[in-house]
Amino acid sequence: METLKTSVLFVFAWSFSSGFGTTATIRAEQVSPPLKEYRIVRSVLEDAQGCIECHAAQNEGIVADWSASRHAHANISCLDCHRAGPADPDISKEHLKIDKTPVSVIVSPKDCSRCHPAEAAQYAKSKHANTIELIWKIDPWLNNGMNSSIERQTGCYHCHGSIVKVENGRLSTETWPNVGVGRVNPDGSRGSCTSCHTRHKFSLAEARKPEACGQCHLGPDHPQIEIFAESKHGAIYQAEGDSWNWNAAPGTWTPGVDYRAPSCSVCHMSAVKSVAATHDVTERLAWETQAPLTVRPSEFGPWPAETQWPQERQKMEAVCLVCHSPAWTKGHFTRLDAAVASYNDDYYRPMKKLIDELYEKKLLSKEKNLDEPLEVEMYELWHHEGRRARFGAAMMAPDYAWWHGFYELKKRCMAIEEQAEALLNSGKPAKVFKVKGSDGETTRPDFEP
Ligand code: HEC
Ligand code: HEC
Ligand code: HEC
Ligand code: HEC
Ligand code: HEC
Ligand code: HEC
Ligand code: HEC
Ligand code: HEC
Repeated sequence: METLKTSVLFVFAWSFSSGFGTTATIRAEQVSPPLKEYRIVRSVLEDAQGCIECHAAQNEGIVADWSASRHAHANISCLDCHRAGPADPDISKEHLKIDKTPVSVIVSPKDCSRCHPAEAAQYAKSKHANTIELIWKIDPWLNNGMNSSIERQTGCYHCHGSIVKVENGRLSTETWPNVGVGRVNPDGSRGSCTSCHTRHKFSLAEARKPEACGQCHLGPDHPQIEIFAESKHGAIYQAEGDSWNWNAAPGTWTPGVDYRAPSCSVCHMSAVKSVAATHDVTERLAWETQAPLTVRPSEFGPWPAETQWPQERQKMEAVCLVCHSPAWTKGHFTRLDAAVASYNDDYYRPMKKLIDELYEKKLLSKEKNLDEPLEVEMYELWHHEGRRARFGAAMMAPDYAWWHGFYELKKRCMAIEEQAEALLNSGKPAKVFKVKGSDGETTRPDFEP
């Protein structure tokens, strides 16, 4: 009741001071649209107050970040996110000894979806969210048992996500801490929203900057952050990005006004003019350029996208057209498509044919992938320079397209042909190596598919 009074007073005071009060009473017969109801309640439950007070002493950093967040401004407290239901498997038993309110440290996409249903729904169908299922299906390290649990924990799962396990009321250290994009949570939901918006600021600005993506999108096999830095767009970002307005409300972040060159988020996620924002990064893609043979996203066997590439290409082009002419934009994509065709036909297909011939003649063993040097050569051909050539062409980075890309492809093909010829000449099967650190584990840790 108290709040209702306050908000009525607030609305009245506003209309009076802005001069509309009098006209409103004179034209009393007019029908006004219903007033939107505002409730500004500046207090938190006693339980929630307890969290803040005790944690301000325990972890100043956490409370400071939260205090600076939109959540704190909107009165979203610790309890709103960390509250655990009585049936939650991940209630912290340790914490119950300190405070009577059950909490869990994991705040999953399902928890966020209470208040952000659209972002969570888009995210749930993205390749980011579903990557654990995907990688166990297709990755040669995993499905050939060629690495070890600790290599997976400190490498793959750090970026792709772990399958979080609860053991005796604690999250197992084999699976926690983790904020990978496809983390499988105890409540069944997939992903961790903090991959890009780190807690406890949950900042829009941070997620919009390329560094948020670059923590995973880097290195020899997916150097998107290096590619971006090399591009003209990246050069402009580095020259003047500090002065751009990264905090504009979603849907109002405007090219030319708030920023002069696109970041990853602008091309792949943000709302740009007629193109709606998305938390599904598979949107706007017309190719699956990380696969050995480039295909359309809807034709990618292990994870066929539900998108249709012509529409997605159109969306991506619409982003470019805000700053470029149609001829400039079309020119770019004509070259990308030609680079993709050249990679497929001039490099991947002929080498694949050669390797298949060696398997047929039993000069290479099919038993395990990556335990013969030629298999590693073939893997690096598509996984390293083959991707760099395609990504460099897609995102305007000539050094990656040529020196780290097509140039290396040429060299790699020579090495493969030379080794293949030696095997064919000798007629003896290639030496099979015992790969260090392989634990032979080939089954995906259990979770509901
Ligand atoms: C009396 C002090 C106190 C109060 C009140 C308190 N906490 Fe804690 N909290 C702690 C301490 C100490 C730890 C670290 C010990 C542990 O691992 O549980 C902790 C840990 C946590 C963790 C991390 C648990 C983990 O497994 O990493 C979360 C999340 C958390 N608290 C949330 C809350 C919330 C939400 C509230 C309010 C309902 C709250 N706390 C109330 C003292 C408190
Ligand atoms: C908007 C939701 C949200 C709010 C509000 C929130 N948290 Fe968190 N908190 C998270 C997320 C997300 C994580 C990371 C866990 C994960 O990845 O699921 C986290 C992690 C933590 C951790 C473990 C961090 C670590 O590095 O060990 C503690 C402790 C914690 N929160 C306490 C608090 C306290 C205290 C407050 C209130 C001042 C608070 N949280 C408010 C979402 C929230
Ligand atoms: C109980 C409701 C609630 C929960 C749970 C919640 N949020 Fe929010 N969130 C809000 C509100 C309210 C705002 C402020 C909306 C605004 O200012 O437009 C907000 C704003 C945000 C923003 C925009 C911040 C900015 O700088 O403008 C992000 C990002 C965000 N939340 C992420 C998350 C994530 C991730 C989680 C889960 C870890 C989460 N939220 C959980 C209510 C919630
Ligand atoms: C530094 C973070 C990082 C690490 C570590 C990492 N990955 Fe990845 N992985 C990525 C990114 C980012 C992509 C997306 C590549 C792209 O689209 O350019 C990816 C792509 C993949 C793909 C391709 C999926 C598809 O849709 O075709 C597979 C499979 C994969 N990774 C498996 C693994 C395995 C297995 C490991 C460990 C042996 C691993 N990754 C280690 C970040 C990482
Ligand atoms: C891959 C990185 C990434 C992940 C993971 C991610 N976000 Fe975001 N999020 C962004 C970017 C980038 C923006 C800014 C989009 C824009 O400019 O319109 C954003 C914006 C938001 C906003 C503000 C949008 C609005 O309309 O108010 C909310 C809320 C949000 N994210 C919630 C979430 C939630 C919930 C999750 C987990 C389900 C999540 N995010 C996971 C990158 C991410
Ligand atoms: C925590 C690590 C991580 C972060 C942060 C991250 N990604 Fe990814 N991203 C991945 C992984 C892993 C994959 C590969 C998923 C797969 O193919 O199985 C991927 C795949 C992608 C894809 C390919 C999707 C497809 O359908 O082929 C795009 C595009 C992408 N990410 C864009 C972004 C953008 C933009 C950001 C920042 C706003 C971002 N990512 C942040 C790990 C990350
Ligand atoms: C100027 C716009 C633009 C910027 C900026 C940009 N990208 Fe891209 N990105 C593209 C285009 C165009 C493609 C190829 C789309 C297609 O499939 O036709 C692409 C492809 C990708 C792919 C390959 C997806 C796949 O499976 O084939 C990933 C991953 C990716 N981008 C991530 C990023 C990340 C991370 C950043 C920032 C470091 C970034 N992009 C910056 C436009 C951009
Ligand atoms: C927010 C505005 C903006 C958006 C959106 C944008 N660009 Fe650009 N782009 C620029 C600016 C500014 C330059 C620098 C032009 C110059 O050289 O003077 C540039 C340069 C380029 C270049 C020249 C690279 C070089 O080194 O010669 C290409 C190619 C390009 N953009 C393609 C694209 C494509 C394709 C898209 C969409 C996927 C896109 N841009 C989206 C602003 C943008």
